[in-house]
Amino acid sequence: MRRFYKGLIALLMICMLAGCGKKSNKQETDKELFVIGFSQVGAESDWRLANTRSMQETFTNERGYELLMENAMQQQDNQFAAVRRFILEDVDLIVIAPTTEEGWDILLEEVHEAGIPVIIMDRSVAVWNRDLYLTNIGSNFLEQGEEAISWIETNLPVAEDEPLKVLHLKGTDGSTAQLMRTRALEEADQRHEDWTIVQQLNGDFTEAKGYEVMTNYLKHSQDFDVIYSENDNMTFGAMRALDEAGITYGENGKVKIVTFDATKRALQLCLEGKINLCVECNPLHGPLVEELIQKYRNGEQIQETVYISESVFTKENLTQEFIDQRTY
Ligand code: AHR
Repeated sequence: MRRFYKGLIALLMICMLAGCGKKSNKQETDKELFVIGFSQVGAESDWRLANTRSMQETFTNERGYELLMENAMQQQDNQFAAVRRFILEDVDLIVIAPTTEEGWDILLEEVHEAGIPVIIMDRSVAVWNRDLYLTNIGSNFLEQGEEAISWIETNLPVAEDEPLKVLHLKGTDGSTAQLMRTRALEEADQRHEDWTIVQQLNGDFTEAKGYEVMTNYLKHSQDFDVIYSENDNMTFGAMRALDEAGITYGENGKVKIVTFDATKRALQLCLEGKINLCVECNPLHGPLVEELIQKYRNGEQIQETVYISESVFTKENLTQEFIDQRTY
């Protein structure tokens, strides 16, 4: 019997030294990480890929975070499912980049009841109860649209006998980026009797759709002066369609091009004179979101809306050096 007890004591000591009965090292480390559930819109554009990278590069394990990212493939239902999984996983905080503005009330109530704080990133949500999220960080999309309009007003003179014909390429219907950029154009159209929006085509923020709708449109009309395209990828698709139809564009072309995002590829085309105006939409949200999370964790006050800083580019204020340094 004494031999049995001696053996048991030895076994217990080995267990204690080896850490038996405790959680694994990984679990212990995980426990210290701040877990963020991130519902991303999709991978529809170069902008979106840069935005995802910015989040992934910011919220790393080394920096004390675990980022659980779910790609919603531009479907709001996928976002609802992802957020409900985050609730079940009892994450510390949820970041949502919403596809569209409407339809979030019930889901955000569920998250609120679960006691998980929410940050709305990039676009916005239209909910009755503003207390359902901490803050909304992203672009001032209306200001972006107004910048584009002011450039058109200054740089595209209207002929005496003919209106300025604008072809409008819209992004995802109901998204803040679409709603606000469209609002700026439609309000300008109301103000300017000598402007007309010849057509509004929906390209869903993708290059493939931009190419498709533009190709179809050009089959029955080629009479427009400027393309107001709500993102770079739709612009690239539209440019391909214009090339195939033999229509010139840019600085010395028949059609002028105004685009939103100002990604590296668009800036290069702007410097080459193929795009007239790039209105920047800054995708580098990661560091700003982290700053807000730190404030929240420190119990500090957080602003309701935080806009990221952005610029406007034409050939005149661009340099090759600047474009080469751009990370997206
Ligand atoms: O919400 C930001 C918009 O979404 C960007 O302009 C576009 O490229 C992206 O897909």
